[in-house]
Amino acid sequence: MDKILVRSGNALKGKIPISGAKNSALTLLPCALLTDEPLTLRNLPRLADIDGFQHLLNQFGISTMIAGSRPEDFGRVMTLSATRLTSTVAPYELVRKMRASILVLGPMLARAGEATVSLPGGCAIGNRPIDLHLKALEAIGAEIEMAAGYVKAVAPKGRLTGGTYTFPVVSVGATENVVMAAVLANGTSEIKNAAREPEIVDLCNLLVAMGASIEGIGTSDLIIHGKDRLHGATYRVMSDRIEAGSYACAAAITGGDVELVGAKMSEMDATVEALRAAGVIVDETADGIRVAANGKLQALTLETAPYPGFATDMQAQFMAMLCMADGASVLTETIFENRYMHVSELNRMGADVETKGRTAIVRGVEKLTGAPVMATDLRASMSLVIAGLVAEGETEVSRLYHLDRGYERLEEKLQLVGADIERVGAE
Ligand code: UD1
Repeated sequence: MDKILVRSGNALKGKIPISGAKNSALTLLPCALLTDEPLTLRNLPRLADIDGFQHLLNQFGISTMIAGSRPEDFGRVMTLSATRLTSTVAPYELVRKMRASILVLGPMLARAGEATVSLPGGCAIGNRPIDLHLKALEAIGAEIEMAAGYVKAVAPKGRLTGGTYTFPVVSVGATENVVMAAVLANGTSEIKNAAREPEIVDLCNLLVAMGASIEGIGTSDLIIHGKDRLHGATYRVMSDRIEAGSYACAAAITGGDVELVGAKMSEMDATVEALRAAGVIVDETADGIRVAANGKLQALTLETAPYPGFATDMQAQFMAMLCMADGASVLTETIFENRYMHVSELNRMGADVETKGRTAIVRGVEKLTGAPVMATDLRASMSLVIAGLVAEGETEVSRLYHLDRGYERLEEKLQLVGADIERVGAE
């Protein structure tokens, strides 16, 4: 399997193009299920997870066509047509590999009146239940049964009714599922304590472009008036705020000065605030965001929270950056119970991180040292690359399939700003 070799050296300088958002793309793609007309998505990132989702949609009889992009370009355009569905079953082999597959449940149920989706099972960053997805769908008229590891959801009389649901805790995935189902219900739905991540705003904006009626977009109270049918649309996926934040941490740790081209400051408030509190200069530019180091990094106290709080998807990258800060930082992970798998790897590189339950104390060190490392999830892998950019000697990051799930051509983008990084095939 391939590895990434990263050597310490240059302060990163220059421009990094930011791709379309993975987490948005994975909820926009299943919207193709909601209409028999073509849906064209632009600015889709080239990622293993997108390929996997495309494959899953093909299983239901959705045709997909990729056009208009050359191999050397970032991003691509995909046209999806669900003229007729040939299957309403998402099998275990596909769902197991990609948790986001659960996002077909709502739109499939709304379109076909039934959907059978394998339970996704656990994952490296903790137990990730789907009970809220199911409760929210039941609240808008679904009947749900579990059998042999599958969820079977049916809309009695072929159509969801709409209804009211209040989330007991904020869930991004469950909000996405119920919104995608409610847009075709035979009535109005009110979703309270909905997640309001920018990716959910992106989803709602696409649905409106397809003819849906949604009030309260961007708030935690969504009112959705169901429509008899939706139509096709052409839509550009928002830029990836987590990718942008990751490169911001990479620039800051190296003492660099980079422009994140395409990044949107208004979607990254908590990340920008945390970077500034650490002493990093962050400015909006005509094309994106400039991130520049300004002396030694300062320690921070950070707690992950649903948007607009500090994103759990940024925790590992900030931890890597704060390993080189002046003083002790305190990070608290409130979303997932097991999202510190990068800690032991960072410590092997000379970091001083101690975890106590959901809290990690990151004591700044004078230097990190390169080592062979591997990680068990996507953002954790990125934190090791960030540490590797300043660790003395060479860091060898293996299990690249995690990085390839979420960072489009990572090593190329870092090379563009002067990093000493390469991908090599394993001997
Ligand atoms: C979560 C993150 C999202 C991140 C993604 C990938 C939040 C609120 N969500 O989204 O920012 O991009 O991981 O790392 O930060 N839960 C239940 N039952 C459910 C669904 C969720 O108990 O049916 C719990 C989860 O265990 C978790 C919390 O709710 O503690 C939030 O989970 P959720 O937002 O649904 O997870 P993702 O959609 O994967």
